Amino acid sequence: MAQFSSSFLDELISRTDLVEVIARHVELKPSGSNNMVGLCPFHHEKTPSFSVSVDKQMYYCFGCGKGGNAYRFLMEHDGYPFPEAVEYLANKAGMPMPEARTVNPKEEARKKQAYHLLDQVASVFSRTLQADEGKQAKAYFAQRKLPDSIIQRYQLGFAPAGYGFMQRCFGSETHTLQQLESIGLLVKNERGYADRFRGRVMFPIRNKRGQVVGFGGRIMGDGEPKYLNSPETDFYHKSDLLYAYSEHRESIRKHKMLVVVEGYMDVLAMAAFDLPYALAPLGTAITEQQLSHILRLHGEPVFCFDGDRAGRQAAWRAIERMLPILKTEHAPKFLYLPDGEDPDTLLQKEGKNAFEKRLKHDAQPMLNTWIQGLKNIAGSGAEGRARMAKKADQMLSKMQDDYLRQAWQVEIENISGVMLKQTKPTQYMSKPRQTSTRKMAPRLAVTPMTHEQFMAALLQKPSRFQLLPEDAFHFFVDSNPIFPIYTRAFSLAGDDENTTFDIAAQLMREFPDTDIARWVNLPKVEDEAFQMLLRDMHLAYLKAQLSQTENLSVRIKLQAELKALQAELKALKPTN
Ligand code: GTP
Ligand code: MN
Repeated sequence: MAQFSSSFLDELISRTDLVEVIARHVELKPSGSNNMVGLCPFHHEKTPSFSVSVDKQMYYCFGCGKGGNAYRFLMEHDGYPFPEAVEYLANKAGMPMPEARTVNPKEEARKKQAYHLLDQVASVFSRTLQADEGKQAKAYFAQRKLPDSIIQRYQLGFAPAGYGFMQRCFGSETHTLQQLESIGLLVKNERGYADRFRGRVMFPIRNKRGQVVGFGGRIMGDGEPKYLNSPETDFYHKSDLLYAYSEHRESIRKHKMLVVVEGYMDVLAMAAFDLPYALAPLGTAITEQQLSHILRLHGEPVFCFDGDRAGRQAAWRAIERMLPILKTEHAPKFLYLPDGEDPDTLLQKEGKNAFEKRLKHDAQPMLNTWIQGLKNIAGSGAEGRARMAKKADQMLSKMQDDYLRQAWQVEIENISGVMLKQTKPTQYMSKPRQTSTRKMAPRLAVTPMTHEQFMAALLQKPSRFQLLPEDAFHFFVDSNPIFPIYTRAFSLAGDDENTTFDIAAQLMREFPDTDIARWVNLPKVEDEAFQMLLRDMHLAYLKAQLSQTENLSVRIKLQAELKALQAELKALKPTN
């Protein structure tokens, strides 16, 4: 982030309407005087928990925890790298980009050219399909029952047989040839440059932002290899891309359906049958990165596999890779198709309705598929049950979501009759952050909720920092991850000029975690509630001190103070 000054970034945010940025993707409705709410675009939900604070220019989803400012939204939702998110907003706001950027401008220009070239190549393939040269390829698509509308929409194309096509289209300048090689379209050998894709129908592959980054090419008819894909390049990372992601993102949200299939043709066949919500990995087993993109887009995807042995193995691998990222809100399903069939062949055979029925009724919850897989591996008898428990234990240890892990553990214990060993301490924040450099202070019996309420109260109204008593510091000491944020906020609030917005924006930069956005978007903490929090805070402090001291006279004094405070609290909280 070093290349932009914080004053530029703040100015840009203040000239940006976050609501407008988000409203392109999310239908927002007013809630209260300063908030808008809608269905979260980062996870699947039926009731809105996604909140946008209009005055603070921050969003937060109380369902999945995603949150941040306009930069973060563009990065996480639309896949922009940070500098490009800045550029996008600057363009929109009509603000000139600052001159001095420490990013390598040469590198930037090279990337821009590469994307441009990839886009041109996709156009050339697509034009070639429509030209005379493409007759046979068109016939192939027709035979595969892909209508023109699909060919257009997914920009399918054709790379003619023989060598020299790329040179014919783009010229033979060394620079161009090198560029075409670097984006995977030419292969360099002893005799010079050769076209990678020849005599194949072509499927452009796009990144999250919809930029062409590579291609898949299928031979028309039989032959080896059946599919040929782009090699790994700076832009094409097959383990991180999904076919049709950018094309289908919106319709997945609209239909509230996501189906993961094995091949390009399955994705397209489904689209041709008006089921435009499939994604596919690019010819490899599905990776954890891809699974995480999938679950973020939709929490209840259906994974389709061939019912044969290879399909079951692929399903098992997908389960193993999904365990570390699976959360309670997710509900993936697994569907085994009849032996030797894929969504494409099934749709051609039995049509849309029958296929939709399979998706709806035959897909099994992941837990069932997992248990079935465990049973298959473990075998029968007492030893089988022991093996099942052991394997399950190993796999469960990979799960990060405590509740889900415990629930699944109970299932396995019931089935196997064996107690598992799993016990993993619960952490209340996912990632440990910087710990305080202060000396250890009494550990305070304050719930995380109180800490967060407290931060919310302070950030929502920075003048409250002035009201804090001396002992407020101790409230957060120990290794509480909020502590460094709190102290930083405290010093930022010391400057009277800083508004909530300034403080939150600065904190977001220094602690690029999402909690700050959440605190800001929490329901407004009223002054009375803040006063109560202060008392709670003091109470916790007194209790902690009591537990630390043996000195009788100090204890008496503390106990008296504690009693008085408890009585005060009791009087103030009529409900409990
Ligand atoms: P069609 O035969 O055209 O219906 O394709 P399919 O999707 O049914 O093919 P298949 O099930 O054989 O393969 C699924 C996916 O694996 C394809 O979409 C490709 O991405 C990939 N794939 C298949 N064959 C090859 C190959 O020979 N080489 C590579 N690199 N990938 C392949
Ligand atoms: Mn197929």
